[in-house]
Amino acid sequence: MAQQQEAMGISQRDHDERWTKADDFGSQNLIPEEFPFYEALQYAQDLRIKEGLPDIAVSPLQGKMLALQCKLIKAKNALEVGTLAAYSTIWIASSSPDIKVVSVEIDEQKKAVSEKAISHANLSDRVKILLGAGIDVLPQLKEGIAAGKREKFDFTFIDADKQNNTSYLRLAVEMSNPGACIIVDNVVRRGLIADPEAAKADSKVQGSREVIEAAGKDPRLDCTMIQTVGEKNYDGFLLCVVK
Ligand code: DHB
Ligand code: MG
Repeated sequence: MAQQQEAMGISQRDHDERWTKADDFGSQNLIPEEFPFYEALQYAQDLRIKEGLPDIAVSPLQGKMLALQCKLIKAKNALEVGTLAAYSTIWIASSSPDIKVVSVEIDEQKKAVSEKAISHANLSDRVKILLGAGIDVLPQLKEGIAAGKREKFDFTFIDADKQNNTSYLRLAVEMSNPGACIIVDNVVRRGLIADPEAAKADSKVQGSREVIEAAGKDPRLDCTMIQTVGEKNYDGFLLCVVK
């Protein structure tokens, strides 16, 4: 097994079978087949695999955490940066029949795949995917808000190019209602964020370090960072509340 994992580029240090087994146990018990979006989420995963897109979506239990977070704050407008194949998008949209989701995707193929999954989930009227780099599209959304053409966001999930995390966080804060929640995915990076040398070699580690430093210094935010293990190995997220 360890040898197999090494061959797949996963080092023994990075994976523990217990993490996947515990995730399976949790999702089997907590995400029932009767959940209205169960089949749509499976469809989105299957489509991602069929289209050869990378296996970097949130896990089922992490997706449900995003939905529960939206429920807790009764989010009505959500923003996502990085759609991939709309797996997390569907989770966020599942949180309420009243929530509207804007998701930004840089890649045309991923946008097309996502739109197919969103349509299959019957969410096309509440989910809009915008094509472009987050760093270009978010300022346009901000202009739309300033012009009164668009509502501020209650919930933002940042899950795109990690190098721009700090800019995305700043823009998200500027577009948020008081009490809004902002979550940044993948900031722990197998613990490498604590290693300045690793950051020199890996711009995703550097981007993750920077966003945590920026979040801590931002007087408009109250934040925590939670490390996670599971089927997506060892990582973690940054959770911020906008004051
Ligand atoms: C990466 C990106 C992700 O969004 C994720 O969930 C895991 C890994 C990455 O780019 O390394
Ligand atoms: Mg991610």
